[in-house]
Amino acid sequence: MKKVRKVVFPAAGFGTRFLPATKVIPKEMLAVVDKPIIQYGVEEALAAGCEQIIVITAHGKSAIEDHFDISHELETALEKRGKFELLELSRRISSMVDISYVRQKDAKGLGHAVLMAKDLVGDEPFAVILPDDVIDAPVPCLKQMMSVFERVQSSILATHKVEGPAISSYGVLDGDPIEPGSRIIDVRGMVEKPKMEEAPSKNAIIGRYILTPTIFELLEKITPGAGGELQLTDGIKGLLATEKVYGYNFEGTRYDAGDKFGMLTATVDFALKREDLGPRFREYLKGLKL
Ligand code: G1P
Repeated sequence: MKKVRKVVFPAAGFGTRFLPATKVIPKEMLAVVDKPIIQYGVEEALAAGCEQIIVITAHGKSAIEDHFDISHELETALEKRGKFELLELSRRISSMVDISYVRQKDAKGLGHAVLMAKDLVGDEPFAVILPDDVIDAPVPCLKQMMSVFERVQSSILATHKVEGPAISSYGVLDGDPIEPGSRIIDVRGMVEKPKMEEAPSKNAIIGRYILTPTIFELLEKITPGAGGELQLTDGIKGLLATEKVYGYNFEGTRYDAGDKFGMLTATVDFALKREDLGPRFREYLKGLKL
């Protein structure tokens, strides 16, 4: 029985959908309420039992490394001022997990970013979390997928239904549930960012993957696909020739926090759920009389 121990976080993109905020600040460091979106992903990886995190970074992304590192200056200042709760919060982040960083020198696409992790992952199944996709779920999404992996021991892609023209912003699966009503889909094919009329289903790929290491050989061979980029979806499509690939319709709500509207809805929903902010924020929203 194989176990998934490592998670790759591609975080090398420019974040153009969020300019000007992302001119200097990595989009992965934008906060939903008070926590950078990448930290939601890291906490999900830990909750799923993963031990090693590999972040694919690029020029201008050093704030991510600083965030998960110890800040002696900040800690000394908090200690002096007796702010022990905040001190604890800061220490918790830096002691959370061991993180390795790999630089992607050219933004050639998601497939290329994942390939950068080849040497650190080695010959074992691994997970990929796209930090833009923040998922609020009763059981963390990757943990749900781990349970499916224990059963199928094959690659699994998180998916959920997308209606209408928005489907063209996603990788889309072709396949059927393994049995009527099942959340697990037996995948036959997939296409990255299809035109609405050409989408094989409404099952959009969401940014959580469990992949077998065979993917690396395939990513080495792919050629530019949708948008002229080396697409992860094209590599996974290649896996289908020799291995099973499953979709998993996860339980939970997904927010595209790399998008302004998605970030706004995530902020409202997460703030409403917070004990310290929720009641006051709810009153404020009620008072808006929209
Ligand atoms: C990427 C993937 C796509 C997937 C999406 C989920 O696209 O290429 O298959 O559906 O993430 O968020 P991107 O959003 O980077 O364009």
